[in-house]
Amino acid sequence: MSILITGGAGFIGSHFAELISTETDETCVCLDNFNDFYDPALKRSNAAQLEKLDRVKVIEGDFCDLDSNRQLLQEQQITRIVHLGAYAGVRYSVENPFIYERVNIGGTLALLEAAREFPVDRFLLVSSSTVYGKGAGIPFREDQPLGIPASPYGSTKRSAELMGLTYQQLHNVPVVCLRPFSVYGPRLRPDLALTVFTDAIANGRKFPLFGDGSIRRDFTHVSDICRGMFNALHAAGIDGEVFNLGHSEPIEIRRIIELIEKSLGKTAQIDQQPERPEDLPITYADLTRAEKHLQYAPQVPIEAGIDEFCKWFREWHEVHPVK
Ligand SMILES: NC(=O)c1ccc[n+]([C@@H]2O[C@H](COP(=O)([O-])OP(=O)(O)OC[C@H]3O[C@@H](n4cnc5c(N)ncnc54)[C@H](O)[C@@H]3O)[C@@H](O)[C@H]2O)c1
Repeated sequence: MSILITGGAGFIGSHFAELISTETDETCVCLDNFNDFYDPALKRSNAAQLEKLDRVKVIEGDFCDLDSNRQLLQEQQITRIVHLGAYAGVRYSVENPFIYERVNIGGTLALLEAAREFPVDRFLLVSSSTVYGKGAGIPFREDQPLGIPASPYGSTKRSAELMGLTYQQLHNVPVVCLRPFSVYGPRLRPDLALTVFTDAIANGRKFPLFGDGSIRRDFTHVSDICRGMFNALHAAGIDGEVFNLGHSEPIEIRRIIELIEKSLGKTAQIDQQPERPEDLPITYADLTRAEKHLQYAPQVPIEAGIDEFCKWFREWHEVHPVK
């Protein structure tokens, strides 16, 4: 009886495995291929910390391989799947759409197919707020038209959701889709804007800001996201449902920059660039559904969360420069 966490050595996956280890007596199998989308040293360090925890095992492998998924589900006696592994990141997907298609759609299908043959009690499919696009009403609601995703990344996440919901309807794979919004916290991915800004401000470098900083993002602390995922892993009667996991308090990017400046005690040097078409002007989660069915209630205020992130950043990146 084990939980499979794909992408378990990544940013959110490593936090989620910690939560399972500290709050349950269940075994966690973290599957990761340690790809070089960003510096694998961060993933290796996450994995080394995870291996010190009770009942957490790290396995190096690729979930795009159907045969290995079948073997893993059988041998490790997997009863629940938390599918976090993916190519994430909006900008990179614009230049490299095929890898997103292969991993985010093909890899998800390889896991769903294995779960059809070796049934599990829950298949948490971690999608993204980027499934909402141009034309979506604001705030974003799960039961309203989603619009067209602004990036190939968002399109692959939407496709994966649809495949998951089809497998739920057709084969009774107990899929639940979650849509996290701009997740941040210690161990954040180096490719994300928050890391790029913090690195540049900490080291006195100029950094590009696309647009005038008025874009708003619904930043959500990783501990809040993990709590929502935890509740979704255990809740009854939600197969085939989709839930937003956000903070429902969109914040302007220029305010985020001010908070980083305050926390680091340094001034930002901004190189303003034209806005990018793959960036929506706002992301904003309606949480009515998650509150009702998952008892989801985000706790971490942005000021405290950014301060904690900057402290972690200084400690980690003093030793490991951002690559
Ligand atoms: N961080 C965010 O703001 C955010 C927001 C919304 C949704 N999400 C979603 O949450 C999930 C986790 O995101 P993250 O920020 O922790 O990213 P991450 O890149 O840190 O984690 C993903 C992990 O998946 C692994 N992986 C990728 N392809 C694999 C494969 N074929 N086989 C095995 N492992 C593979 C990577 O090595 C990585 O460790 C992703 O599905 C992402 O789309 C993240």
